[in-house]
Amino acid sequence: MSDRAPNARGREHPEPEEGDRPIPVWVYQLVGGLFLWGGFYLVAHTGYPLNAGDARTPLPAAASEAGEVSGATVYNSNCASCHQGNGQGVPGTFPPLADSDWVSAGDGTRAAAIVLRGLNGPIEVQGTTYEGQMPAFAGSLSDAEIAAVLSHIRQSWGNHASPVTTARVAELRESMADAEPWDGGEAVRAAFSQ
Ligand code: HEC
Repeated sequence: MSDRAPNARGREHPEPEEGDRPIPVWVYQLVGGLFLWGGFYLVAHTGYPLNAGDARTPLPAAASEAGEVSGATVYNSNCASCHQGNGQGVPGTFPPLADSDWVSAGDGTRAAAIVLRGLNGPIEVQGTTYEGQMPAFAGSLSDAEIAAVLSHIRQSWGNHASPVTTARVAELRESMADAEPWDGGEAVRAAFSQ
């Protein structure tokens, strides 16, 4: 019996003990590797830290830094409430700008005159007579903004007319300073042959 005792002790597991065992090196390597991969991923896929994750697209301002004016932006903030985003207007109330002779005729002088001075009397558009009120924009929009919005409406929704220059708008503004709104479409037609 006594000679088997040492073997039996040898088969015992050692007593569990508490102690400081170092974190294995491969754990450090794994964590370090993950950080490296994360860093590469951010730089390669998101452009971080240049945009720091900001994926918003800035809204185009009416006048960009280069001094260019966006006719679409001027239209959306000043005209679309009445003439609608699709240029179709509202039947019986706001006339359409799409397929309107007042918009596309000639070099755009008539349309410019209407936008500068506003319009109060009757005007016939696509065979329908409107008797509404359009406000003047001479006081609130610059020559460049009016030129841009006119060029925009003359080239949108199927319209294919020439753009209007800022110089032309400036010239017209001069000739109709402080004028009352036009008294109907025929007054505009009488003033400008095209
Ligand atoms: C408050 C509503 C309103 C706003 C804002 C407005 N309009 Fe008008 N517009 C009208 C009305 C109403 C008429 C018709 C006026 C009438 O019957 O005498 C008209 C007529 C016109 C016409 C001639 C008729 C036609 O349909 O072709 C043009 C061109 C025009 N507008 C362009 C513009 C442009 C460009 C802007 C923005 C810079 C603008 N309008 C902003 C209400 C508006």
